[in-house]
Amino acid sequence: MTERLEPLIEHLPKAELHLHIEGTLEPEMMLALAKRNNVSLPYDTVEEIHAAYRFEGLQDFLDLYYAGMSVLVEARDFHDLTRAYLDKMAGQGVRHVEIFFDPQAHTDRGVAFETVLEGITGALEEGERELGITSKLIMCFLRHLPEEQAFEALECACRHKEHIHGVGLDSGEAGNPPEKFSRVYAAARDEGFVPVAHAGEEGPAEYVRTALDDLKVARVDHGNHALDDPALTARLAREQTPLTMCPLSNLRLKGIDRLEDHPVKRAMEAGLLVTVNSDDPSYFGGYINDNYTAVADAVGLSAGDVVTLAKNSFAASFLPDADKQAHIDAVDAHAERFAGDAD
Ligand code: HPA
Ligand code: ZN
Repeated sequence: MTERLEPLIEHLPKAELHLHIEGTLEPEMMLALAKRNNVSLPYDTVEEIHAAYRFEGLQDFLDLYYAGMSVLVEARDFHDLTRAYLDKMAGQGVRHVEIFFDPQAHTDRGVAFETVLEGITGALEEGERELGITSKLIMCFLRHLPEEQAFEALECACRHKEHIHGVGLDSGEAGNPPEKFSRVYAAARDEGFVPVAHAGEEGPAEYVRTALDDLKVARVDHGNHALDDPALTARLAREQTPLTMCPLSNLRLKGIDRLEDHPVKRAMEAGLLVTVNSDDPSYFGGYINDNYTAVADAVGLSAGDVVTLAKNSFAASFLPDADKQAHIDAVDAHAERFAGDAD
């Protein structure tokens, strides 16, 4: 199966819609930036960092994720991080990215919001100019922190609307339900930001429901546990609210015991607009094409299913309709060429 689908997936046009830019920090870059910025880390080698990446759950990962990003200090660090990600994506058929960043994790340790934004947006502009990859930026609120601090982040975002398309919600889900941020999201929507939120990753189906009803999200990040609730599943299918699933993340954070148990195929069969993404690829052992290949192999997706996932990635994006259609046509053209070559 893998051998058969890998060549199709390799250059299949696709969009990545669930990617934390800080989660692309590779161990090599972490060590290099620690040196450049005089930051001390609890690791000396790439091997030690890899050895530390064994997680028992989301919180376990988040502890290392926040510690790792302490090496990101100057705008050029955020630039180099983002540029390295885009360079990788250019070789994986990725034509459009909608990426998250976590400003509170940086402002909390004295790095200015503008420093973070300058570095990321500079690289995103280069990515479009030099690599032909378009992008949108989504600012996440850290849900383990108080509402008041989310309002402060929103205030910063309001000064940079030209660079920030949407708002999201990430970090520790258990005990931090979407409705904790109902008022922040109402304010963000009033300011014109498109709302998305992580829900149903470790939290229950109910958190997906309140993300829809209270936060009025346009897209659900992960959403795995929505599948536990038939009425909610039917609603997501009816309303075609996209889910941005991340198979290798779910495996590495022990949301599932085996990739064979991943709900992506069940979600597709239930008529959901589901997409496949990488979440924090440096930490979870694979970028977007690794996620497509591994999950296709594990749950037995057909070539047609893989093509549907790539089309879904554009349909679920925040691109204008005409751009979505142009990308979807390119997916079809690629799939036809591939089928021709395979004959
Ligand atoms: N879940 C929640 N918060 C996150 C994640 C995730 O997978 N990655 C970075 N922040
Ligand atoms: Zn995520």
